Amino acid sequence: MVTVRAPATSANLGSGFDVFGLALERPADVVRVERADETTIEVTGVGRQYIPENPAKNTAGVVAEELDAPAHIEINKGVRPSSGLGSSAASAAAAAVALNELYDRGLTPTELVRVAAEGEAAVSGEAHADNVAPAILGGFTIVTDEDVTQVDASIPVVACLPEIVVSTRDARQVVPQSVEIDELVSTVGDAATLTAGMFRNDPELVGKGLRNNSLTGARESLIKGFDAVRESALSAGATGVAVSGAGPSVLAVCREGGQSSVASAMLDAFFDAGVEARAYPTSVGSGAAIL
Ligand code: HSE
Repeated sequence: MVTVRAPATSANLGSGFDVFGLALERPADVVRVERADETTIEVTGVGRQYIPENPAKNTAGVVAEELDAPAHIEINKGVRPSSGLGSSAASAAAAAVALNELYDRGLTPTELVRVAAEGEAAVSGEAHADNVAPAILGGFTIVTDEDVTQVDASIPVVACLPEIVVSTRDARQVVPQSVEIDELVSTVGDAATLTAGMFRNDPELVGKGLRNNSLTGARESLIKGFDAVRESALSAGATGVAVSGAGPSVLAVCREGGQSSVASAMLDAFFDAGVEARAYPTSVGSGAAIL
């Protein structure tokens, strides 16, 4: 039997649509696998009623198929589904690492990213690796068609999750298909600034590069209270704010020790907008780990 914890993740980071991702220290999914003749899945925890236990429709089940590693898979959800915090990716990542160990498949972490992305594809229709990469590798990740690059970073953040449901499919439909050259130029600047900030562990630079562009900003209208939440977070000391993944979570980058006041400000702003929310004051953390 093998048990693996895989963290929540935040994709896009404003300037890196479908490219950037980071691992959060919490929340996380815990997946336990045991060899079996055929794959069965049992889900417990947050939002379990929304998660299919049919292996063909579950990210972890698809991963078991990809690895030819049938197992009884117990998924304990700590990451709410449809949260913008990489819920399906956390399960896929944990299953990939656990089954690789259980069956001694010998795949490298980068190879496991591709396997877990297939699990994501089964659920979302497209194989994005921008959540599974940080869920497996930890830190800050840059995913392209050819490569996955990982940077160990330690940046304080708050992920604030409102009680709103936004499906990734819906959120992708509001994204424009093209951008103007001026915007492309400023987005490249933001992305480069954010990446430099991750290398330097500098929350000021990361926050400056975390601005939404027209791609990631298109999701703001799906999140009631977003503008007020962003303004409140910035007033409370956040260095940057963006929609987390496809939303509805909102990610704020903080200065050292600044998470509590930013989290309170974001919760208050959601409350004033009539939206219940919960906040995770956390930091960029490590990837999937065998327990
Ligand atoms: N990059 C993806 C998106 C993340 O924003 O749609 C969610 O899967």
